[in-house]
Amino acid sequence: MTIKTQFFTTPIYYVNAKPHLGHAYTSIAADVSTRFKQMQGYRTFFLTGTDEHGDKIVQAAEKQNSTPKEYADKISQLFQDILPVLNIKNDYFIRTTDENHKKIVKAVLSKIHDSGDIYFSSYEGLYCFGCERFYQERELVDGKCPDHGTAPEVIKESNYFFKMSKYQDWLIDHINTHPDFIRPDQYRTEILSFLKEPLEDLCISRPKTRLTWGITLPFDENFVTYVWFDALVNYISALGYPDSDTFRTFWPGARHFVAKDIIKPHGIYWPIMLKAAGIDIYGGLNVHGFWNVQGSKMSKSIGNVTDPHQVTDTYGTDAFRYFLMREMVFGLDANFTEQTLVSRINSDLANDLGNVFSRVLSMNQRYFKGKIKGADTRIETQKNLSLKSDAQAAVDEFSMAMEKCEFHKGIQAVWHFISILNKYIDTNEPWTLAKDESTLPVLETLMYNLIESLRVVSCLIYPVMPQTSADMQKTLGIQKTDGGFYTLQEAAVWGQIKTASVLPDPQMLFPRIDVEKAPPKELSTPVKSFKPPLKEEITIDDFAKIDLRTATVVKAEKIENSSKLLKLTVDLGAETRQVIAGIAKDYAPEEIIGKQVIVVANLKQAHLMGELSQGMILAASNKKGLVLSGFDKPVKPGNCVK
Ligand code: ME8
Ligand code: MG
Repeated sequence: MTIKTQFFTTPIYYVNAKPHLGHAYTSIAADVSTRFKQMQGYRTFFLTGTDEHGDKIVQAAEKQNSTPKEYADKISQLFQDILPVLNIKNDYFIRTTDENHKKIVKAVLSKIHDSGDIYFSSYEGLYCFGCERFYQERELVDGKCPDHGTAPEVIKESNYFFKMSKYQDWLIDHINTHPDFIRPDQYRTEILSFLKEPLEDLCISRPKTRLTWGITLPFDENFVTYVWFDALVNYISALGYPDSDTFRTFWPGARHFVAKDIIKPHGIYWPIMLKAAGIDIYGGLNVHGFWNVQGSKMSKSIGNVTDPHQVTDTYGTDAFRYFLMREMVFGLDANFTEQTLVSRINSDLANDLGNVFSRVLSMNQRYFKGKIKGADTRIETQKNLSLKSDAQAAVDEFSMAMEKCEFHKGIQAVWHFISILNKYIDTNEPWTLAKDESTLPVLETLMYNLIESLRVVSCLIYPVMPQTSADMQKTLGIQKTDGGFYTLQEAAVWGQIKTASVLPDPQMLFPRIDVEKAPPKELSTPVKSFKPPLKEEITIDDFAKIDLRTATVVKAEKIENSSKLLKLTVDLGAETRQVIAGIAKDYAPEEIIGKQVIVVANLKQAHLMGELSQGMILAASNKKGLVLSGFDKPVKPGNCVK
């Protein structure tokens, strides 16, 4: 019998900043899928790692006054250290600065070069330093990189190019004949629509005059390899391509987890690189959306990142894993807020799962001193007490969804089963059955079915919450040794809990978080450099129309019935004016008197809450509210601000 195998990977993360919640998500999703495949009886290999070459890293290292290698060592270590914290069980951690990786990148390059698919040419194009790649005009949004929001620079240089265009028709055909190659479907469509336009050849080198931190081309030592060409090869170098057993065993059917930011290199460059090098094409891409914070992508360049350590320290690893998998629909964007995290913990984990677990076990404690009694099948049929088909349905729906990376649906299937258990208890009223000697056999059957159902739940939550699964199984007396788990097949076989064993008192799986008593600490670091998109360009003449003046606040008072507005009297030198400003939440009246501010003096006057406002004062929006503009030296009121 041949054992089925499955290879899963995460992107290898850039070492230009430490891991955040976005990275944690992809790695956890891949870990959950790996554990799920193991439950299906597959032998798995799970790879993650760090991407360490290229301009980005050089720049980040320079900022820290360290060499690229020292810097990469430090940050790569942070990516390695977070894995056990998130309970991620990877089989290998690859670094692109590993000697073996470099050797394989060179071997792949030589192979493609030898077969004539790499040529030398000069090129002028639009280059985004953030993405480290050339952009075609049609890919830009308002002339700017869609990812970084900066205008790419025109760069002209001689470089090596990879004939991607030659493989365009082959790739379109491959995607069309392999419906699972890129999923969910919207990303498959996106790649296919991109492939409707002619593919440009890929520039795969960078001259050493511009960048030395990379892998030297095997056929020209004046150039280093383009970082993406280097990085993608990690997926095979880590397995020991070309002739290790691991490579032969695990490469076929490989699936890569990525977010939508990097589908182009994965969906286009990578299959073509493999094809050109005569290597089997990977099995598929699983593409997910972005975790956003207040509407913008959580990212190191914006700085609005949540540190996974902070979340796990505060709420625990399993709760974090659960939240990420339950809250995001794989493929779509999701919003991260601490409130939703806390409310999921309270409702789904403390309330639904935690409650049913302690409810069943404490009833069994009360009625039978913890002893597991058996189910009487005759009574079961008579009273319609079986939960077997509900359990089977949960296993089936769970499996079907998890197979397609529809994690939220897989989890919902288990939680639906949990709600059936709660209803089952309410309808059958074990407390009533316990009152009467004659209904004790019914109660025994009922309790057995409930405990057996908890066993099924404990098996199914394993991929998402391995620790909670083990904790439940320990209480149920069915814990596997050495972090083992039950296969799906074992989970689905009804009637495995042994009668006559005695269960301990239930422990609390998830304590409720009392938001009133202990409001959650702020998790996300402040949005440091988030800037709303710039408004339409104006000319200097447009700007000159705005009359900005220095002014001193001489009087300030609250406006009745308004929590936001302050009524200010400002001295503009030649005159005083009344200005209504929306800063009452940020400044107390007494705090603002005497401040020097900037007033838009020629703004058409208006009434706010019935009060006349003759101008506007300037303030910056900050995460926590507004901050008044001012001057770093005293100024005379009424002067122009230019
Ligand atoms: O792109 N939401 O590395 P990278 C969801 N080195 N996922 C997110 C995320 C967010 N807000 N932010 C990051 C690179 N990610 C290359 C990859 S692979 C051969 C080379 C996750 O550090 C997500 O998986 O920019 C995304 O694709 C990846 O981090 C990008 O990581
Ligand atoms: Mg990135």
